[in-house]
Order: sequence, then C-alpha cells, then structure tokens
Amino acid sequence: MLLAEGVEVWGTARSLERAAAVEGVRPLVLDLHDRESVAAAWQAVHSQGGAVDLLINNAGFAGFGRFDEIPAEMWESEVAAMLFGTAWLARMAAAAMRARGQGTIVNVTSLVAEFPIPFMSAYNTAKAGLAALSATLEAEMSGTGVKVIDFRPGDYRTDFNRSMSARRPSVFTDERCSRVWERIEKQLAAAPSPERAARDLRRALRRGRSGVVRSGSFFQARLAPFLDRLAPVRLSRFCQRLYFDLG
Ligand SMILES: NC(=O)c1ccc[n+]([C@@H]2O[C@H](COP(=O)([O-])OP(=O)(O)OC[C@H]3O[C@@H](n4cnc5c(N)ncnc54)[C@H](OP(=O)(O)O)[C@@H]3O)[C@@H](O)[C@H]2O)c1
Repeated sequence: MLLAEGVEVWGTARSLERAAAVEGVRPLVLDLHDRESVAAAWQAVHSQGGAVDLLINNAGFAGFGRFDEIPAEMWESEVAAMLFGTAWLARMAAAAMRARGQGTIVNVTSLVAEFPIPFMSAYNTAKAGLAALSATLEAEMSGTGVKVIDFRPGDYRTDFNRSMSARRPSVFTDERCSRVWERIEKQLAAAPSPERAARDLRRALRRGRSGVVRSGSFFQARLAPFLDRLAPVRLSRFCQRLYFDLG
C-alpha cells in the first residue's frame, strides 16, 4: 500500500530471503531477540535511506501453554524479544524523530492488552507492556511533532498460529489448554484477512493523530471494548472464562 503511494519502504524479517519477498521493499535482517541486530538494522536505514518518517513495529509471535509449565527461559525470551526488542527500536526512532520535530511510531500491540487470552501469558504480558510504553511515549512526545499510535488488532488470518504451533507443547497435559487452542484455531480460520488491518492503519496514519486504534471484527474491536468499559471487573473476568469455555 505504501509502495503504491511512492513511499520508500524498508521491510524486515529474520532472513534476507523473507525480507526480500515483497518486490520494491528494501530488505533488512532484524531479529528482535538480538539487540545488536536491532541497532544494526536501524543504522542501516539511517545511513542508506536517510531520516525515517514512519516506524511500524509489527514483528511479533506467541508461545502457547500453561504458565507453570512453560520453560522459564522460553517465557523470558518471548517477553524480552517482543517488549524489549520492540522498545529499543522505538527508542532509537523517538530520539531521531524528536530531533527532527516530526515522524510517527506505530507499535502493533493487540486486543490482548485489554482481553488477555489464557495460556498465552508471555504474549499478553509483552503486548500489555508495549501498550503501556506506547501511552507513556505518547505523553512524552506531545508537543514535539512526533505521533505515537498503539495499533491493536483483533483476530486476523495470518501465519501467526502456524508460528505459535511451533512454540507449544506437542501434547497438552491440561484439557482446558486443548479447548482454548481449538477455539483460537477456529477463530483465526474465520477471521478477516490482514489487508483490512493495513487499511485501518493507513486510515489512522492519514488522520495524523496519536492514540489507540483498534482493528478487527465489530464484536472484538468495537462492542467488547465498549461493554468492557461499562462492566465491573468481576463481570469482565466471568465473561472471559465463559468465552474461552474455562468452566
Ligand atoms: N494475526 C492476528 O490475529 C494478530 C492479532 C493481534 C495482534 N497481532 C500482531 O500483529 C503482528 C503481526 O503478526 P501476524 O499476524 O502478521 O503474524 P505472522 O504472519 O506470523 O508474522 C509475524 C512477523 O513477525 C516477524 N517475526 C517473528 N519473530 C521475530 C523475531 N524474533 N524478530 C524479528 N521479526 C520476527 C516474522 O518475520 P519472519 O519472516 O522472520 O518470520 C513475521 O514477519 C504481531 O505483532 C502480532 O502479535 C496479530
């Protein structure tokens, strides 16, 4: 979409081949687990492409499993990559954009920042943390000309679940894990295609304002957040257990 508008786009993935998959995008290798790779990617764009007007912190993945069963190192590395790795990139962009008095940082968080999904504790924690960071950055950047968008998608049909499958136990010891997994699989299979999320973000960028932008089905992105604001916390928690059939 951005390429069609004549924007110079740099795209990242953990391998150059994947990053080069979209014609016209300038490919970069970046692994959120590796702070040096994050800094090197940012430096490469700056030295070869000049100032960055828009940073879209989109990379993300999730593990799945019971909190007390997930290996501690796995849990920590998921939070570190998605929260710290993304934060370092936002930090470099914030400094450069503040100096120029313009630019936009988009942190792709998730509706899990408001509605955590059971058995995705590291992911929920990282995304809620990233949402808090976005709100902080938005306040700190007010009056500087730099915009900060916390973009919160609901379910979209992407490769997300395939990558999550590789990060879950081969056999669930808890029957409730299987039920939630099946529910997630069913929901993602019926979810809208990611072009819709891209269009929502494009619209938000055109508005030129900082803030939270939710994107997804009417129920997930509009009705549930609205009702959640009105409901007492105990009722919200009850509805969450009902929604995921947790008993
Ligand atoms: N799909 C949904 O329903 C949904 C809902 C809410 C939020 N989100 C968020 O939307 C964003 C995009 O997800 P998606 O649905 O498009 O999933 P996806 O198809 O699995 O894409 C994930 C992207 O993240 C990159 N990535 C994964 N691990 C990385 C790492 N350690 N370092 C750098 N890049 C890494 C992948 O690059 P490689 O090519 O290197 O694998 C890939 O480009 C994520 O932040 C996700 O949390 C998705």
